[in-house]
Amino acid sequence: MAAEETSLDPAQLFAEDMREIWLEIGFGSGEHLAQQAIENPSVGIIGCEPYINGVARLLADIDQHNLTNVKIYRDDARILLRALQDISIARTFILFPDPWPKMRHHKRRIIGPSTIPSLCRLMPAGAELRIATDDPSYKEWILQHMLACDGFEWRARQPQDWRVRPVDWPATRYEMKANAAGRQCSYFMFDRRG
Ligand SMILES: C[S@@+](CC[C@H](N)C(=O)[O-])C[C@H]1O[C@@H](n2cnc3c(N)ncnc32)[C@H](O)[C@@H]1O
Repeated sequence: MAAEETSLDPAQLFAEDMREIWLEIGFGSGEHLAQQAIENPSVGIIGCEPYINGVARLLADIDQHNLTNVKIYRDDARILLRALQDISIARTFILFPDPWPKMRHHKRRIIGPSTIPSLCRLMPAGAELRIATDDPSYKEWILQHMLACDGFEWRARQPQDWRVRPVDWPATRYEMKANAAGRQCSYFMFDRRG
């Protein structure tokens, strides 16, 4: 996929007209993305993941379920975020992004000052951003950066809203490992403000 900055209309990537376009950043082995694609056949889903073995696993799922509503970008999500057209993404998933726990590596975190403005540009009012993490310091970082952003509103009203994974949010491989190791996962849902 090559494109001029902000010129890529993701709807054009799909053979059929899609009701909405969703984006998953860092899909790992792709089990969440594949399940969303199966459950939402009228939605086009773009998955972004540089890890080649993960891409191969998702391709196997796409084959097995004959999915025609998935596109894969096998590189750094930041390149794709820059390429996509304004207000073209109705839902974004960033599930268990690498936490980069050392302070000197915090600038590598995918959620932060460089990506949040891009998400604001790409997502129309009412669009949903889902983020999960099991890392306590990244959890604080995510909330700090997201709550400082006028463009998104955190949907949680009570602790169970972020402690319990919603039913339409399939579990990921990383999450299952985190749970098995006894780590508490957090599930954040933000709405793009009008
Ligand atoms: C901790 S894993 C979680 C994978 C999956 N979301 C899950 O929950 O099982 C983080 C994933 O993000 C991917 N990743 C890291 N940096 C990325 C970037 N800049 N763009 C896209 N994906 C990235 C990694 O390759 C890795 O697969």
